[in-house]
Amino acid sequence: MIVLPLIFALPVLFVSAQSNDTSVQIEAIEAHFTQAALVPELLATFDPSSILTINFDGVGDLSPGQSLTQDQVGPTPTIKITAANSSVDLTGNFTLAMVDADVVGADESNITRHWLENSVIISNGQVSNSSATAITSYAGPAPASGSGPHRYVVILYQQPASFSPPSDFSQPNLGVSKFDLNGYVKDSQLGAVVAANYFTVEVGTSTVSISATSAVESSTLASISVTTASGSTAASSTSSASNAALILNAGSSTLFLGMAVLAVVAASM
Ligand SMILES: *[C@@H]1O[C@H](CO)[C@@H](O)[C@H](O)[C@H]1NC(C)=O
Ligand SMILES: *[C@@H]1O[C@H](CO)[C@@H](O)[C@H](O)[C@H]1NC(C)=O
Ligand SMILES: *[C@@H]1O[C@H](CO)[C@@H](O)[C@H](O)[C@H]1NC(C)=O
Ligand SMILES: *[C@@H]1O[C@H](CO)[C@@H](O)[C@H](O)[C@H]1NC(C)=O
Ligand SMILES: *[C@@H]1O[C@H](CO)[C@@H](O)[C@H](O)[C@H]1NC(C)=O
Repeated sequence: MIVLPLIFALPVLFVSAQSNDTSVQIEAIEAHFTQAALVPELLATFDPSSILTINFDGVGDLSPGQSLTQDQVGPTPTIKITAANSSVDLTGNFTLAMVDADVVGADESNITRHWLENSVIISNGQVSNSSATAITSYAGPAPASGSGPHRYVVILYQQPASFSPPSDFSQPNLGVSKFDLNGYVKDSQLGAVVAANYFTVEVGTSTVSISATSAVESSTLASISVTTASGSTAASSTSSASNAALILNAGSSTLFLGMAVLAVVAASM
């Protein structure tokens, strides 16, 4: 058995975009959700019409998937919503949810509800709970020590007039518990996902083996013009290790997609 490190490719993709072009940010968050396996593990599909920005006091606006400490995510965050364009309607009622989607590879039975507010509205670009019902008030993450990086996903759903929650979710002050998010959305007749984002929290050192997330699919960024700085195309990995990072830098008008793919091919001879 001979193990050969065959490929070490570092394709660097620069994507030009308007600094405040939310359509680029929407492409980016879709790619993040796929990369973090939130699609399809949590959401079957993800086609948001707006950008959701999570802001914790003392931390600021989060980037997608940002890793935070338990202390940083203790206080209730503020949630900003930015429509993709002026034809997106952000009037009316919405439902805001935050769930712990556990580590990559977890199944739906491991989803935990940390926040559930019905009848929130968007006011001055922010989610307002001024006339909301807090079914579950925000409860800061507290993943078990050594259980790996948990994915905390904040999702805003359309809440149409026909919204009718199941009786066990119609009263405020429910504590944190396991949650069938998609069952709830269907049973209460919530509408489409308007926007979502996520962060991660890990406590202690992981003692479990977390499967690697897949690389960002650059095909999801197809509507943006892409030039490769290195001239190489993305290598496909035979997957002993892969790592992808997608960083949207709104300030510098540049979407930087850095993708490092290390493929180690084992050959028997
Ligand atoms: C970006 O913002 C500037 C000013 O803040 C505005 O003039 C411009 O129209 C915006 N562009 C887009 C694509 O939203
Ligand atoms: C506005 O954004 C929505 C959601 O991304 C999209 O479906 C729609 O085509 C966009 N409309 C225009 C005029 O760009
Ligand atoms: C679900 O979570 C429990 C701990 O609460 C863990 O032992 C189990 O491995 C998880 N299952 C999956 C499929 O992630
Ligand atoms: C609104 O959110 C604040 C925290 O930001 C909380 O203290 C308050 O109880 C919430 N009110 C309702 C009705 O959810
Ligand atoms: C929005 O929610 C409030 C309850 O807070 C309710 O009175 C109102 O009818 C709802 N509006 C719509 C359009 O569903």
